[in-house]
Amino acid sequence: MGDSVGLMRLSVWMHICAFGIILIGAPGVHAWSKEGHVMTCQIAQSLLEDDAAEAVRSLLPDYVNGDLSALCTWPDQIRHWYKYRWTSSLHFIDTPDKACTFDYSRDCHDPHGTEDMCVAGAIQNFTSQLMHYKQGSSDRRYNMTEALLFLSHFMGDIHQPLHVGFTSDEGGNTIQLRWYKHKSNLHHVWDREIILTAAKELYDRDVELFQEDIAKNVTDGIWSDMSSWGECDDLFSCPKKYAAESISLACKWGYKGVTPGETLAEKYFNSRLPIVTKRIAQGGVRLSMILNSVFGNHNQELSAPT
Ligand SMILES: *[C@@H]1O[C@H](CO)[C@@H](O)[C@H](O)[C@H]1NC(C)=O
Ligand SMILES: *[C@@H]1O[C@H](CO)[C@@H](O)[C@H](O)[C@H]1NC(C)=O
Ligand SMILES: *[C@@H]1O[C@H](CO)[C@@H](O)[C@H](O)[C@H]1NC(C)=O
Ligand SMILES: [Zn+2]
Repeated sequence: MGDSVGLMRLSVWMHICAFGIILIGAPGVHAWSKEGHVMTCQIAQSLLEDDAAEAVRSLLPDYVNGDLSALCTWPDQIRHWYKYRWTSSLHFIDTPDKACTFDYSRDCHDPHGTEDMCVAGAIQNFTSQLMHYKQGSSDRRYNMTEALLFLSHFMGDIHQPLHVGFTSDEGGNTIQLRWYKHKSNLHHVWDREIILTAAKELYDRDVELFQEDIAKNVTDGIWSDMSSWGECDDLFSCPKKYAAESISLACKWGYKGVTPGETLAEKYFNSRLPIVTKRIAQGGVRLSMILNSVFGNHNQELSAPT
């Protein structure tokens, strides 16, 4: 890492207005452990411009029929394999307890202190790798398919507020509590419980309907600050901004008022659901923005690192 990268001017809003949302006919959600990632990736893929859409299709293995979301949880499946053990710290960031801030040089490292080995560093890393795609197959240093899947997955993770959480409770993983009637923990509430409860209560158990509702709201631009979602100066500052947003939300909405052992239910669900849906939308919109930028033909200002 440490490559210098030119300005990446990102105008999400323009892309959305110009291209609209074309919902990819998703062939069903395969497993019930990956809803957030699937939604983020489906929203992102629906916002791709032609060049990026084609690049993504060509990088995906044939068996997914061009559906990026089908492989967006691949990095979770392989993180414990020996060959991929180096990726296990790339899914999250541990920040100092109660600090509620993200500082890249302080916080972005693995447990051994190796720099850049966190979700923000990983997004920079795999975005940089994908910038070589247009140079053709002569560059075999990187596996572009893996880079695409890692980037797509980590853009989901960095937007989940509790993936940027306190060190001592492992991002809420050790905060045991009940979600309605069953045992859970605070991290899992944000990974999955809120999404599943929303699907169950509001969308007749159909996660796809939930995702379509978020996608529609992206098209309709219901979030008043949406025009600023794409604002960040360059490849290296964007993930820092996303991580800072997450820890701030984790403090304000995740940890706040939660006592270990208690039962969280309607009140917590109703107040936190809008945060979860917005983060899924932001992750999807910003992933499309990065892919359009990296694979687009018009983007001269994006200079490839060496
Ligand atoms: C970047 O990716 C390469 C593999 O392509 C890996 O060896 C390296 O550890 C990664 N670094 C980060 C910060 O993700
Ligand atoms: C790239 O990675 C994918 C997924 O691990 C693998 O199936 C594929 O064979 C790799 N491609 C090359 C050229 O190594
Ligand atoms: C979509 O927007 C409508 C209108 O603001 C809102 O009632 C609904 O909860 C939103 N749904 C999602 C999933 O964001
Ligand atoms: Zn992950």
